[in-house]
Amino acid sequence: MYKVKISLIALAIAGIQLNAEAQRKTVNQRVDSVMRLMTLDEKIGQLNQYSGREVTGPLVKQNANMLNDIRQGKVGSMLNVQGVQNTRHVQEEAMRSRLKIPLLFGMDVIHGYKTIFPVPLAESATWDMDLIRLSAHIAAKEAAAVGLHWTFAPMVDVARDPRWGRIMEGAGEDTYLGNDIARARVLGFQGDKLGGLDAVMACAKHFAAYGAVSSGRDYNDVEMSEHQLWETYLPPFKAAVDAGAATFMSSFNTLNGVPTAASNYLQRDILKGQWKYSGFVVSDWGSIDQMIKWGYVPDKKQAALKAIISGCDMDMMSYSYIEHLKELVNTKQVSIKLIDDAVKRILAKKFELGLFDDPYRFCNEEREKAELNNPEHVKATLKVAQRSIVLLKNEASILPIQNSFKKIAVIGPLADSKRDMQGAWAGANDADRVVTLLSGLKQKIGNGVQITYTKGSTIKTNDTTGFAEAVKVAKDADLVIMALGEAYDQSGESRSRADIGLPGSQDQLFSAVQATGKPVVAVLMAGRPLIFSNIAAKANAILYAWFLGDQAGNAIADVLTGAVNPSGKLPVTFPRSVGQIPLTYNDYKTGHPYNSNVFQYQTGYIDVPNAPRYAFGHGLSYTTFKYSDLKLDRSTMRKNGKITASLTLTNTGTRAGEEVVQMYIHDPVASVVQPTKKLKGYGKVALEPGASTTIVFIINAETLSFYNQQLKWDAEPGKFKVMIGSASDDIKLQADIELQ
Ligand code: GLC
Repeated sequence: MYKVKISLIALAIAGIQLNAEAQRKTVNQRVDSVMRLMTLDEKIGQLNQYSGREVTGPLVKQNANMLNDIRQGKVGSMLNVQGVQNTRHVQEEAMRSRLKIPLLFGMDVIHGYKTIFPVPLAESATWDMDLIRLSAHIAAKEAAAVGLHWTFAPMVDVARDPRWGRIMEGAGEDTYLGNDIARARVLGFQGDKLGGLDAVMACAKHFAAYGAVSSGRDYNDVEMSEHQLWETYLPPFKAAVDAGAATFMSSFNTLNGVPTAASNYLQRDILKGQWKYSGFVVSDWGSIDQMIKWGYVPDKKQAALKAIISGCDMDMMSYSYIEHLKELVNTKQVSIKLIDDAVKRILAKKFELGLFDDPYRFCNEEREKAELNNPEHVKATLKVAQRSIVLLKNEASILPIQNSFKKIAVIGPLADSKRDMQGAWAGANDADRVVTLLSGLKQKIGNGVQITYTKGSTIKTNDTTGFAEAVKVAKDADLVIMALGEAYDQSGESRSRADIGLPGSQDQLFSAVQATGKPVVAVLMAGRPLIFSNIAAKANAILYAWFLGDQAGNAIADVLTGAVNPSGKLPVTFPRSVGQIPLTYNDYKTGHPYNSNVFQYQTGYIDVPNAPRYAFGHGLSYTTFKYSDLKLDRSTMRKNGKITASLTLTNTGTRAGEEVVQMYIHDPVASVVQPTKKLKGYGKVALEPGASTTIVFIINAETLSFYNQQLKWDAEPGKFKVMIGSASDDIKLQADIELQ
C-alpha cells in the first residue's frame, strides 16, 4: 500500500508538471497565432503603456488622442484606471481595435486597495510570512474585484539608508528576510497560478539596487561592486522569479553609470539570461526618456533604442516606443526579433489571465461591491497591524497600562489623525475608515478611566502654541500617551529626508510634557526608522507603530492595554545619528575591531558609539523567554551534508507571547571577508506561560554560502559560528561548527 501511495503521488506530480507544460505550449501556440496577424504598429502598441487618469478622469477631453490610440491598437496596457465601470469602458475601446487585443490594467496596490494594511516595512516587522502573504492576497482580491489585472508590487529593494523615503515600501535591510518576504508577497498577489479572479500579476521592483541610491536621495545614482550587487541586492529579485513573479519593473536609478532601463547586464544577461525569466519588464514611469536628462542618450529615439535592445519590454508613459520604434525597425537599427520577443512576453500574460477568452472577466460589479466591503478584510488588517508593532522600550513594565491609571492624557499630532495612519501608496484609500489611536483607546479602555486629549503641536511646523494646554492636560493625568512621528507624506517616493528626527516642534513638545514628571509612553509613527535620542532616553516606554493602516488605533490600543502582547521585531536598524548611516547589523570586524574601552585606533567614531539605537531583530514582549540547551547532532559536516541545531525556548513570564528566534552565522575566515553575522534562519513561536518548545534549524552548504571573488555562490571549508538570539545584538546561545 505504501509503495502504491508514493507512485500515486509521483503520478500526480508528473501530471501537474505535464499539465503546466501543456498549458505553456497552449499559451505559446495561441500567442504565435495572434503574432502572425499583427502589423508592426500593432506589435509596438503592445509595448506602450498610458496612465489612466487621463482617459477616465476629468481630463478625458484633453486626452481624446489616448482613446484613439487605444481604438487603433496602439496601447497594450493602462495604469491607474480603477473601478469596474472605468476598466470596462476603456476595455470596450480596445475591443474596437482591429485585432481586439485586450488591455492590461495595472496600479500601485502596495499595501491594500480599499482596505489599507500596514505599510510594507511595518508588515515586515511581523516576520510572519503567512500573514504577509494574506495581506497581499486580500489586496489582490480587492484589486481584481475593481477590474485590475496587475499590481506594481512587491517592492523588493533592500534598503539600508533610512534617509531614503521609499524604505517604507520594502522589507528593510536584510537579504535573507527580504528573500522570504519577496516570495510571500508574490504568492500573495498571484496565488499559486495566474488567472484566478482573486489574484493579480505581481511586479518585482525596482530592478535593481534602487535602495542604495547615493546619500539616500531618491532617483539618484547607485555605485556598487558586482559582489555587493549579487550578495545583497539581487537575491530578493531572484526569490521573486522563483516565486513566479509575472513581471518586473526597472528603476529610476543608474547602476554604475547606466540607467537600469538601458542595462543589458541586468535585464538580458542576468534576468532573462542567467535566471531564464519568461515574464516581461516594464520601465518605471517615464524612465526611458529620462535617459536624456541623465545624459545617457542625446534624444528619445536613442533612448528607445537603448531600452528595447537591453530588454525593457514595456514603456510606461514616456511615449518613446510608440514614437520611435517603428522607424528604428524600418531602418534596421532594431531587429523585429526583439520587438517580437517583447510582444510575446506581454501577450502570454494576457492569455494566462484569460483576457483573450473574456476581456471583461474581471469586471463584475457585484464582486466589486462585496470585496470592497468584506468584514474579513478589516479583521485581517487589524491582525497584521497588531503584529507589526514593535515594543522598543518598557521601563519597569509600565506597559500594558495598569488598572491603577484612572486619568490618561493622550497628546500629540498623530493621536487622532486618520489619513496619516494609511501611510504613502495608500491605493484607493478611504481615510474615513481609519480608527485613530484616540478612538481606539476610547473604545478599548473601560469605564472609570478618564481620557483627555490635546494635539499639542502640528506634525511639521515649529508652532509651540499648543504646549501650554498639553502640559496642563499632562499634569492632570496619571499617565501620558504621546503619539508623535512623521506625516504620511514624509516617506514614500520622492520623500527623502536629510534629518530623520521628529519633524517640527514634536521633540520639544515631548520635553515639555515629560518635564511634568508624569510617566510617558511614546507611540511613534513613521514610514522609516526615526532618530529620537531624547525620547529614547526619557520615555518610560516606546512603541514603534509605523503606519498601521485602517485599524491602526485598535491595534495600538490592543497592545497598550495588553489585549495583545507585542511580537514585532525590527526589520531594519535604527541609528543613533544620521552620521552613522548606512548602518546595518551585519558589519565587519575590520583590522581595528571596535572596542568601547579603547579610545583610538579602532573602527568607529570618537563622538558616537558604533552601536545602533535599536538593532535589527530587536523587539520586546510583555513576557520573557529563556533560550537553553543548544544541541548539534554533529559539529562537522561535508558539503553535501547537514547539521541539525536544536534549542529549547521557554516562556518564563506570566502571559502568553510570541518570540522570533533568530539564527545568525559568522564565517571568521573566508576568501571574501564576511560580516560578523548574517541572518540565516528564524522562526516565530507562540508559547503559553511556563511552556517550552524545541526549535530546530537545519544548517547545510546553502546556509554557509556566499558570493566569492569569482561571483560564484559557494561555501568554503572551515569553522563557522552559529549564533541564536532574540535580536542581532542579543545573542543567547552559540556553537562552533566546521565544514570539511
Ligand atoms: C512611480 C514609482 C513606481 C510606480 C510607478 C507607477 O514613479 O517609482 O514604483 O509603480 O511610478 O505609479
